Amino acid sequence: MKTIDDLLAAGQVEGKRVFVRADLNVPLSGETITDDGRIRAAVPTIKRLADAGAKVIVASHLGRPKGAPDPQFSLAPVAARLGELLGTDVAFAADTVGDSARATVEGLAGGQVALLENLRFNAGETAKDDAERGAFADRLAALADTYVGDGFGAVHRKHASVYDLPGRLPHAAGGLIATEVGVLKKLTEDVARPYVVVLGGSKVSDKLGVIDHLLEKADRILVGGGMVFTFLKAQGHEVGKSLLQEDQIPVVTEYLQRAEAKGVEFVLPVDVVGDLEFPDVKGKTPANPVVAPVDAIPADVLGLDIGPESRKLFAAKIADAATVFWNGPMGVFEHPDFADGTRAVAQALVDAPAFSVVGGGDSAAAVRILGFDEDAFGHISTGGGASLEYLEGKTLPGLAALEN
Ligand code: 3PG
Repeated sequence: MKTIDDLLAAGQVEGKRVFVRADLNVPLSGETITDDGRIRAAVPTIKRLADAGAKVIVASHLGRPKGAPDPQFSLAPVAARLGELLGTDVAFAADTVGDSARATVEGLAGGQVALLENLRFNAGETAKDDAERGAFADRLAALADTYVGDGFGAVHRKHASVYDLPGRLPHAAGGLIATEVGVLKKLTEDVARPYVVVLGGSKVSDKLGVIDHLLEKADRILVGGGMVFTFLKAQGHEVGKSLLQEDQIPVVTEYLQRAEAKGVEFVLPVDVVGDLEFPDVKGKTPANPVVAPVDAIPADVLGLDIGPESRKLFAAKIADAATVFWNGPMGVFEHPDFADGTRAVAQALVDAPAFSVVGGGDSAAAVRILGFDEDAFGHISTGGGASLEYLEGKTLPGLAALEN
């Protein structure tokens, strides 16, 4: 895979329009960015290109708008933050391939940076139809001379700017993609053992592929978050009003049996913290948390975090790891009454002498929002779905396109 180092060494960017596909899909509360980790991760590649005299055109998606402009998903607040981090003005185009984008790109001098509006405001970006995606990619290609793929968080998407556009321009991988792939390789080839995987998040259906794959690789799998209630139900526990995917119980049961047969240790919480209703994560009004052992979850309670005994158990199961991969929060960490499980796992990763990788938008944001020092972890990935699909051994369209 050609990298930005090759482009720079060949002196191929000065005065050229370089299209950088980044992943600036950050969490927003209104127009306030609640975690700017992905923007900070995008800065080094953009800066290197600008310093080398390129006219840098940055593009990204944000959220999941429905193929048409939708102000709540505008990248305008991201342009402002990117400018602050770069220490220079970032010109913002109010569209993706229209008059504003063309005029903004034409107005760039070497060393200047522009950000296009949300790529998903155009239906062609995410279209299943190759021709529709291709037509949008043609219009994006007309804006630039060279393509740099650096949006690791989106490389698992077969989208116009990720998959089709590199085929239309000379292309290379940015520094972030090179780093992310280097780290994830360490988790798939010659991994140092014990290899402990911690999975959380709400839906078990999102994690089936990775669990299936990790049953062949990991020594121990710890499960928390909303997805755990499907496992607990599969073990015969009542889970009250907790999130449950009944249709996944047979699959989960098969995983538990397979883990046992293979000697992979599957660790589930022994207690949970819950409440009668979902907490106010925006206003953070104090909740009424109750702790219950997993074999006595009251019928009117919904589980929102792993409990105190589980926190100790999970920390002990992480302590002797040589490698840890963590994806997905243990509970509703956005509310202080249900953040302790996620905090305990983050702390256990910090304390363990292991090479620790935090993968996933939500767990990466949780680590920063809960005030952990990012440098205390081996690596904090910008990719949620992308890092999971990489670990599953899938071909990622955005990486395949950069290889060709
Ligand atoms: C992510 O948040 O994982 C990436 O930005 C991809 O977003 P998507 O799941 O909406 O494609």
